[in-house]
Amino acid sequence: MSAMHTHDSSSRQAWTPESWRSFPIRQVPEYPDAAALHAVEERLRRYPPLVFAGEARRLKANLALAAKGKAFVLQGGACAESFGEFTADIVRDTFRVLLQMAVVLTFGAKVPVVKIGRMAGQYAKPRSSDMETVGGVTLPSYRGDIVNGPDFTAAARIPDPARMETGYFQSAGVMNLLRAFAGGGYANLHQVHRWNLGFVERSPLAKQYGVLAERIDETLAFMAACGLTGATTRQMDETEFYTSHEALLLPYEQALTRIDSTSGEWYDCSAHFVWIGDRTRQPDGAHVEFLRGVRNPIGIKVGPTTTIADLERLLDILNPQDEAGRISLISRMGAEGVRKHLPPLLRQVMASGRTVTWLCDPMHGNTISTVNKVKTRSFEAILSEIRGFFDVFEAEGAFPGGVHVEMTGQNVTECVGGAHRLTEADLGERYETFCDPRLNAEQSLEMAFLLAEELTARLRGTSATGGMEAA
Ligand code: PEP
Ligand code: CO
Repeated sequence: MSAMHTHDSSSRQAWTPESWRSFPIRQVPEYPDAAALHAVEERLRRYPPLVFAGEARRLKANLALAAKGKAFVLQGGACAESFGEFTADIVRDTFRVLLQMAVVLTFGAKVPVVKIGRMAGQYAKPRSSDMETVGGVTLPSYRGDIVNGPDFTAAARIPDPARMETGYFQSAGVMNLLRAFAGGGYANLHQVHRWNLGFVERSPLAKQYGVLAERIDETLAFMAACGLTGATTRQMDETEFYTSHEALLLPYEQALTRIDSTSGEWYDCSAHFVWIGDRTRQPDGAHVEFLRGVRNPIGIKVGPTTTIADLERLLDILNPQDEAGRISLISRMGAEGVRKHLPPLLRQVMASGRTVTWLCDPMHGNTISTVNKVKTRSFEAILSEIRGFFDVFEAEGAFPGGVHVEMTGQNVTECVGGAHRLTEADLGERYETFCDPRLNAEQSLEMAFLLAEELTARLRGTSATGGMEAA
């Protein structure tokens, strides 16, 4: 990189949607046909935005509430969406499970739940290695459907810019359906609760989860008796639902970046919320430069190798005015590491007086490989990281802002454990992810019930897991 780019945003050159191009970049695909790439970028630049800046501002305000413990964030969806899974059923099932989780979490946290899908654009994946070798053959790694194809053939692995356009149109299709579901009556609270009762009935832990379900049932019956129904009260019948993805493929993100006519500011209109991954968060790198100039709420993945110095620089560059709701720090330390790596970072951010929303991603620090080299995660490790995260916040007297999970509404078998006791031997049954292992529908709901119990106990000052004494 050139010497003129120093860490301080004021001493950087002026930001433009393409200023990232003069910064060092990682995880970038090499398109063999530059003219084809350019033509796609030109077309994307003229297409309608997928979100409206006012929506991103509303989400930012909600995230600011979560930073103060006045809301709780539930961000979830697939590790990677895939072009082949572009069906109403898959979108509906993930949306439905997120709503089901949100109802339970609202009851547990006693604050509004901010719902954000890893949906309608989560197509680009960072990889730990540029190349993949199978049976002596080496090919470029799969980087997500918006870049290349998952099949292990030389042709599929060539980055194809036409995939960006497909990604745009599929995002638009998913977004349209999500908007219809959120506002068209599908999100009715009584209906969502009925789905939860169905889940509890099927669960081996029906007795345990039934207690919470029963209390929600009574509350809803009471509210209905008071006249709060879908017919009388908008909030009973519709919901706000936001979209998000990793802002990894910068040519695509740049093409969707527009000036908002109301505020005159730049927004990345590919999604409401975009985040920087753990592999592309270099303070002097292209991804940070790009996100510096868009006004969306943004996330930064924070892993065990994140230093205090890097974090401070990132916050300086990405949020120089310390705007509340602008930054969500997504901690992904692993169940083993969270109690060790998170406290120093949290303390430093608190001591600096900055406002950030902290989310717990209990997935990416807990990926393991079975003896048969299948990537999986254990439900118990995932839960354990979230509990560790809550404990750390309690000990520091800070507010945990929410959770960020990889899940699906399908009954896949990708993560082991949970009430149905999935084992490594079950993983072959329905292992469908294009990238990381996701919680299935039942595991996701279980996690919501357990978190709600945990949050209820902590609000009462009687932690279910005994982590309270530090507070
Ligand atoms: C992801 O969220 O899918 C991801 C790749 O996470 P991280 O950048 O934290 O590894
Ligand atoms: Co992932």
